[in-house]
Amino acid sequence: MSQPAPSQSVGPLYRSESQKPTATVSTKLEHDNVHILPQTPQLIALLTMIRDKETNRADFIFYSNRIIRLLVEEGLNHLPVVSQTVATPVPGEKYAGVRFEGKICGVSIMRAGESMEQGLRDCCRSVRIGKILIQRDEETSQPKLFYDKLPEDISERWCLLLDPMLATGGSALMAVEVLIKRGVPEDHILFLNLIASPEGAVNFAQRFPKVRVVTAFVDRGLNEKNYIVPGLGDFGDRFYTM
Ligand code: PRP
Ligand code: URA
Repeated sequence: MSQPAPSQSVGPLYRSESQKPTATVSTKLEHDNVHILPQTPQLIALLTMIRDKETNRADFIFYSNRIIRLLVEEGLNHLPVVSQTVATPVPGEKYAGVRFEGKICGVSIMRAGESMEQGLRDCCRSVRIGKILIQRDEETSQPKLFYDKLPEDISERWCLLLDPMLATGGSALMAVEVLIKRGVPEDHILFLNLIASPEGAVNFAQRFPKVRVVTAFVDRGLNEKNYIVPGLGDFGDRFYTM
């Protein structure tokens, strides 16, 4: 199932191509609704830290949080804005700007998705957060829905769905179905994700073409246990318990 891993030279612009190291970068996807973060030296360095099996839990949390912050900042660029002109303290001066249109909420797919809540809170003060507990069966990789607790008025909000890993796509698809059943329009859902497999991302994008996906990296593929490769292992275990 794996595609060949693309590689590219990575480093600051002032370095010539021959002075830059080559690194594996994200696989490209042909879906307009899947936005992959720019493969900057900073992002690749952060991903290198969290992929390293020798990285301890404290560092895993720290570097994951840095990527989560990049994802949230980029995700907010995908929400609609309306014009807003303000008067500045300089007499007679105005600034023609924008403000976000509409209310938002975060929805984390437990457990690993909860790791992304703080990054969202850091950018959106007192944001409401709903939870959906979905667990993937270790043998079959099939997702199972256990629980959901969502804001009452969720159908009137833009939903930022949070899960760091998109492997087969089963868990994310199930979470979107829960949101749609609760009246959230498909095009009001934005999925923030750290690492996706190409097959999971394509599966998801084809089933829900109006949901926007913002991901840091599309990896090479899935292994026989439906783990993302090269991946980073079990995100929830590394963030919460290892
Ligand atoms: C992981 C991950 C996703 C899911 C991805 O969660 O956080 O929710 O697997 O796999 P899929 O795309 O094949 O469905 P898991 O169910 O292992 O639970 P956890 O969050 O408690 O680690
Ligand atoms: N869940 C994870 O945490 N990692 C994977 O690679 C797949 C599912």
